[in-house]
Amino acid sequence: MTVHFIGAGPGAPDLLTLRGRDRIAGSAVCLYAGSLVPAALLDHCPPGARIVNTAPLSLDQIIAEIVAAHAEGHEIARLHSGDLSIWSAMGEQLRRLRALGIPFSITPGVPAFAAAAAALEAELTLPGVAQSVVLTRTSGRASAMPDTETLPAFAATGATLAIHLSIHLLDRVVADLTPAYGADCPVAIVWRASWPEERIVRATLATIVAAAQDGPERTALILVGRVLDPGAFAESSLYAADYDRRFRPTTPGSRFAETMA
Ligand SMILES: C[S@@+](CC[C@H](N)C(=O)[O-])C[C@H]1O[C@@H](n2cnc3c(N)ncnc32)[C@H](O)[C@@H]1O
Repeated sequence: MTVHFIGAGPGAPDLLTLRGRDRIAGSAVCLYAGSLVPAALLDHCPPGARIVNTAPLSLDQIIAEIVAAHAEGHEIARLHSGDLSIWSAMGEQLRRLRALGIPFSITPGVPAFAAAAAALEAELTLPGVAQSVVLTRTSGRASAMPDTETLPAFAATGATLAIHLSIHLLDRVVADLTPAYGADCPVAIVWRASWPEERIVRATLATIVAAAQDGPERTALILVGRVLDPGAFAESSLYAADYDRRFRPTTPGSRFAETMA
């Protein structure tokens, strides 16, 4: 039997992939990671499924649940918020499962930063403004940051920043970023993107602390960068009328002309 790790998306129940939905529906046991996984996703579990909130469990207890379900021959759905590739604690579970010889599958999900960008109606990579997005966080009690992965170091690149797990340290984020980005750099905070209680505040590095002072203390993304208020920016060459490319050769003499036939 297989443990199906499934990215549960940012909050809205319909931001789950069809594959994720089907794997939940095919699993007699569902382990889900606390309050960030919407309860509505559990409606996809088959009747009589064993459903366990793993928020109060240790890693050993979670693995014990999996080992017991595996021994009984059950498929197991393992839900984590957003996508599994960032801050999901999937890595340590996979290591245990590999050691135990328990098979697993991985189904990606919609990450919170993408839901936040959608809420802001923003593309995070605009030509001539920023072409990189840094998904990062500040140090927390559970995870220290590597010495080289500091906000000032990322700020020096001018990339768009999507800062997770840090809303309670907004003052420090602003102090770390202002020297490189400038006090007028746009900032947006999106609380609970895609949930009914979603909330957005837009400001600048100079004004965001005051603008966000009555915001909730949890489950928010801080997005920083000129892409959030770019003014004029270049159009992508890819769709320019005179840009010769494989899928749209511009002249019969184009090196891509054979694809015109
Ligand atoms: C443990 S991380 C999980 C990230 C998740 N794996 C993902 O792909 O987005 C939790 C943090 O992600 C961010 N987050 C998760 N869901 C969110 C949402 N719906 N809206 C805004 N931020 C969210 C917050 O910064 C929160 O503190």
